Amino acid sequence: MSFTTILTEVKGKVGIVKLNRTQAMNAFNAVMLKELFDALKAFDKDERIRVLVVTGNEKAFAAGADIKEMAESSAVDMLTQGHVEAWDRIRAVRKPVIAAVSGWALGGGCELALSCDMIVASESAKFGQPEITIGVIPGAGGTQRLARLLGKHLAMEMVINNRTLNAAEALQFGLANRVVPVDGYLEAAIAFAEEIAERAPLAVRMAKDSVNAAFETSLTEGLKAEKRNFYPLFSTEDQKEGMKAFIEKRQPNWKGR
Ligand code: CAA
Repeated sequence: MSFTTILTEVKGKVGIVKLNRTQAMNAFNAVMLKELFDALKAFDKDERIRVLVVTGNEKAFAAGADIKEMAESSAVDMLTQGHVEAWDRIRAVRKPVIAAVSGWALGGGCELALSCDMIVASESAKFGQPEITIGVIPGAGGTQRLARLLGKHLAMEMVINNRTLNAAEALQFGLANRVVPVDGYLEAAIAFAEEIAERAPLAVRMAKDSVNAAFETSLTEGLKAEKRNFYPLFSTEDQKEGMKAFIEKRQPNWKGR
């Protein structure tokens, strides 16, 4: 794969996508959006990869959609280009995706982090939805995901009054899984990804799908979705291996089958 706005790297079982428009604080232009999601899709299909990490640089994870690119767009342009639909494509990724966030995660950048499954934040991370300051609202999931994650009042303040969350607040309110020093924040996220990459791959996939169901359905439907993922795991070699290994007091050897 060859890209102009992102960098990709494979470390063992972890696929890393680094946003690389440093000159624009990693703002998403159409090319970077396409490249990001193409790279995620390719890693999702790659059997060697078990977990994905999405990151930016120390100063900016991503400062949102490229304002210069969309400033003169009409509603029809935005609609026909499916501008914000691009973010929905991250939901189609079946493997776990960890956002390694340092510096600014604003607008579509915050929404990208929210679309991931877990967030490792550096101490300098700042999350916000400043769209209101440029006369619009979040369009890539911010109003919905923040309301579900943080509750109505804080989400409302972020969206209506550009309240940002620093790393400590993100941890306190359950947005970030962990906060680590800026030095080595990406390595910390990769180490976290490597931990998950060593777990039973099919069970990880079913677990992700089940947790995500909680955001889509009623409790009754969610419990059904969980059962639909639980029972089939008993037809996998990994379930037999995992339980046998427990009984034999040894480490399991996962096959992903
Ligand atoms: N779009 C286009 N260019 C951007 C950008 C963006 N979202 N964010 C930063 N840049 C550019 C700046 O214009 C500047 O370029 P020049 O050097 O050519 O002037 C360069 O990146 C560096 O930025 P600053 O000089 O502003 O750096 P700073 O350290 O003073 O501030 C910042 C950093 C707080 C991130 C500030 O740049 C900022 O507020 N950016 C805009 C954030 C924003 O409003 N995001 C929401 C976009 S709308 C959206 O995301 C909705 C959607 O469609 C999903």
